[in-house]
Amino acid sequence: MKAIVAPVKNVIATQNAFDSLYNRSYGVPGIGLIHGPTGFGKTTSVAYLFNQVNGVLVRARANDTSSSLLGRIVSELGAQPMSRNARMVDYIIEQMSMYERPLFIDEADYLMGDIKLLESIRDLYDATEVPVVLIGMDQIAKRISSRKQFFNRISEWVEFRPADLDDVIVMADCMLAGGIRAEAELLEQLRQAACGEMRRITIGLAQIEKLARANDLDVVTLEHWGDQPFHGLRRQVA
Ligand SMILES: Nc1ncnc2c1ncn2[C@@H]1O[C@H](COP(=O)(O)OP(=O)(O)OP(=O)(O)O)[C@@H](O)[C@H]1O
Ligand SMILES: [Mg+2]
Repeated sequence: MKAIVAPVKNVIATQNAFDSLYNRSYGVPGIGLIHGPTGFGKTTSVAYLFNQVNGVLVRARANDTSSSLLGRIVSELGAQPMSRNARMVDYIIEQMSMYERPLFIDEADYLMGDIKLLESIRDLYDATEVPVVLIGMDQIAKRISSRKQFFNRISEWVEFRPADLDDVIVMADCMLAGGIRAEAELLEQLRQAACGEMRRITIGLAQIEKLARANDLDVVTLEHWGDQPFHGLRRQVA
């Protein structure tokens, strides 16, 4: 399997939303929210994007405090975390403004229960007006709507959708190595079995590639695959 980020619809929607944040008109707020179920490719899409836009990406954690999260942002910016939060906020603001470095916070669900954490992030945005993008699970959209001061600053929302057949075809084209191809009927069976979840589709494509290699196939069909699961224990194929 090739280690490639396939340009599926959710990846393109993430890029378009970021472009809109970056090129927004005067007065339009610049916070974005990306949300969707586990395994739909949120982290992958954002990791791909943040590299291209000289962004700073941190992952919130279950027990984060303002100081641990700010410290991680400072580290990502290449400095040593400082003992005072106010000093770290100043440093981050300076770096974000001077070099126009957008901030991406993955697993942002962990910020929702702690108003201080959210306010620290809002301070960074208000002082710089450089885009800030939060990435989280389904519940984040609902929970953030009760944090009005934050909610009102969000101008771009991306809800990740399950992969459709076109997306799975794009993934197969990008990721299967050695010129191996998979028939559309087989990819449709994989899409259904994985309920459109990118993590499970990737696992299934790796299994398809394995079957192709073991049997010296250029094209893997539904017939070759049979009715075996894509994920979990498979019977040995002769
Ligand atoms: N566009 C893509 N191209 C190639 N592989 C992808 C893509 N999107 C997702 N994947 C694969 O699916 C796996 C799961 O994706 P990812 O970790 O980005 O999902 P997530 O939505 O962040 O899930 P979670 O909510 O559990 O953090 C990745 O490790 C990667 O292998
Ligand atoms: Mg993730």
